[in-house]
Amino acid sequence: MPYENPFYAEPEYRKVLATQFSSVTPENQLKWEFVHPEQDVYNFQEADDIVAFAKANKQEVRGHALFWHSQNPEWLENGDFTADELRAILKEHIYTVVGHYKGDLYQWDVTNEIFDGQGRLRMQENIWLRELGPGIIADAFRWAHEADPSAKLFLNDYGVEGINAKSTAYYELAKQLLADGVPLHGFSAQAHWDMRWGMPQDIEANFQRFDDLGLETAITELDVRFTLPPSGIPTQDQLERQSKYYTDTLQACLNVLGCKSFTVWGFNDTYSWVPVFFEGTGAATIMFEDYTAKPAYYDMLAMLKDATPGKSPRR
Ligand code: G3I
Repeated sequence: MPYENPFYAEPEYRKVLATQFSSVTPENQLKWEFVHPEQDVYNFQEADDIVAFAKANKQEVRGHALFWHSQNPEWLENGDFTADELRAILKEHIYTVVGHYKGDLYQWDVTNEIFDGQGRLRMQENIWLRELGPGIIADAFRWAHEADPSAKLFLNDYGVEGINAKSTAYYELAKQLLADGVPLHGFSAQAHWDMRWGMPQDIEANFQRFDDLGLETAITELDVRFTLPPSGIPTQDQLERQSKYYTDTLQACLNVLGCKSFTVWGFNDTYSWVPVFFEGTGAATIMFEDYTAKPAYYDMLAMLKDATPGKSPRR
């Protein structure tokens, strides 16, 4: 079952959010279906509350996401719009949403998940690509930049942490966009790990090649899921293995100079998308339901204390 949003009702959630993080990301509140539920209705209240909370706690805010195939409102997906109308709709949405937070959000996921696992653009699933063609990607970045010239604009996806067909498709796209003078500033990987599989050992090398293009990099949605024992309580061994996924990901980011943003996707197991979407798995975040911290939390904290950002010899 989807869970209630703890942001308003749970004091402990707010306390941990306020004190343990320097950057926050609205998990759903800036997605089209939430922020733009009807064609002529924008609903900024919940995202505004997050931004106000972040300001009060001297935190930065990442924006997610402007151009995606998922979590779009019905009026958009089932609407009967011409290409010109759709282009105007996207432009208006980007101007309105990015403009509303002008100067407040330091990074925006302009596009989210535009490539499939083989590194092909999602020409069917993504309404913008399907109806307007790949050239609309550059326009989305241009419009976002016009609406907030200070925000760093990202290409964001999952399965692009290491070097593979999909991340290489991004690398080629990024080079092309930069060559065309498009205001692209960053490439980010979500990092939703599953302990049934190992993790790539070349995250740093992958991020470094984007860094070499002059782009920032970021980890945007880190969590580490695994199959829970019948008791539902993770074993110590599982928690220690989980910690390694977290710290290896953090280390890769620390080693790349332009990796300036590192985000976990939820910080308490009660409020994680993982068990909702992957039955039998869970415990993917850095804290138990009662906010007790897991090894991943302590190990990342120790790593951050010792960190020398950008120590990679390649730069
Ligand atoms: O807001 C409705 C609520 O009104 C309704 O009563 C309730 C019951 O159905 O559902 C609520 O919406 C849910 C929403 O989360 C907010 O809780 C949706 O059903 C549920 O599908 C949605 O899941 C989100 C998921 O994206 C959808 O794709 C997760 O919270 C969110 O963590 C997840 O985030 C994505 C990133 O955006 C992109 N990368 C992958 C990541 C994990 O899937």
